[in-house]
Amino acid sequence: MNLADSEEMAAHLLARGYVPTENLEEADLALINTCTIRDHAEHKALSFLGRLRKWKRENPSRIIIFAGCAAQRLGNRLKKTFPYLDLVSGAKEIDRFAELLDHSGLFSTNPAEPNPATQSVTGYVTIMRGCNFACSYCIVPSVRGPVHCLPSQQILRQAAQKAAEGYPEIVLLGQTVNAWQEEGKTFADLLNEVSALPGVERVRFVSPHPAFITPQFLAAVENNPKIARHIHLPVQSGSTKVLQEMKRGYSRETLLEKLDALKERGFAISTDIIVGFPTETPQDFEQTLSLVERVHFSAAYCFKYSPRQGTPAAQMQLHTEKTLEERLDILLNKVKGLAESAYRVQIGKPVQILMESPNKGRTSDNFWAKTKKSYPVGSMVNSIVEDVDDTLLLTRD
Ligand code: 5AD
Ligand code: SF4
Repeated sequence: MNLADSEEMAAHLLARGYVPTENLEEADLALINTCTIRDHAEHKALSFLGRLRKWKRENPSRIIIFAGCAAQRLGNRLKKTFPYLDLVSGAKEIDRFAELLDHSGLFSTNPAEPNPATQSVTGYVTIMRGCNFACSYCIVPSVRGPVHCLPSQQILRQAAQKAAEGYPEIVLLGQTVNAWQEEGKTFADLLNEVSALPGVERVRFVSPHPAFITPQFLAAVENNPKIARHIHLPVQSGSTKVLQEMKRGYSRETLLEKLDALKERGFAISTDIIVGFPTETPQDFEQTLSLVERVHFSAAYCFKYSPRQGTPAAQMQLHTEKTLEERLDILLNKVKGLAESAYRVQIGKPVQILMESPNKGRTSDNFWAKTKKSYPVGSMVNSIVEDVDDTLLLTRD
């Protein structure tokens, strides 16, 4: 989501004559798009902003924009600590970013030719923003606001345009992306409509919520090979009790049913897990470990619980840092070999590779694959996995 938001904001800067650079020293402007999901993420953004003090002093005409979720949470307080900051633009303001730039008086109004985008095969389309859940640990609903679904007409127009620009893979984005709906239309319908657009070869979506893995969605997938067979489905915990306290809206059992249904339909599943939620007992933690053993995720991103201001869980008694560290260590050890084993079991399977460079691309289930011959970027190559090198499939092609 942040990547797509960055692209969207950057487009408004390109339209005002800026070109991207990897080199801060030659930059005239720094746009920092931030995350506040955990304290650590916010800290990183703020310390980067702190380091820009010197950069701005070297050349006071340089412009610094601080945007995204941390900007939303901290607001104009930021300007007190960082007086050299030019603009603050919160996550809720992304639709008004262009207006904000124009009102700032910092930019000239005669736009130059925009720089062509870097070559990639993936086009991002935001289909909804915000979240109507209230997971007790999560700051997202307060910084992103309630769900707002974009109209299907607009989504289809944008996806068609991306495909026409040469992006055969479309990634639909939203905080709870599969909660998207509009009068008479579900997320499953939208997936089918986007994948039927000319030039669209593959459709992915990030991030879904288990509550909306519906029979309708599963039926759509079954009949539509363009829907990628990979899902990043955050489970958060394997204990029904903790899931309830997190207010996730599902139990271990219903979760397992959905995960099994996805596996049966050939999905590789990656996930997010939080360790050390305040009420998590050693037995609850064991339940998470056993879920990881049972499901064979293709990847699991593991996080120490981080209290976020204003969330219900932040009022609860915290575990010690030592307990958090210990549990994270145990879990990380358990998930360490997941990717390698997920890759190993692909040997002998047929794959469809969307080429991202002449010799490398990704399969529908999101594994990296290397081909023997060279193919055009953006083409789809059908082959069989012959061997595997760590986390790279080697194909017969
Ligand atoms: N502490 C730790 N991890 C969190 N996440 C969300 N909020 C918190 C928090 N307060 C994790 C969840 C989510 C991922 C993006 O970040 O696992 O899926
Ligand atoms: Fe946060 Fe829960 Fe919404 Fe995900 S579903 S963004 S974890 S409140």
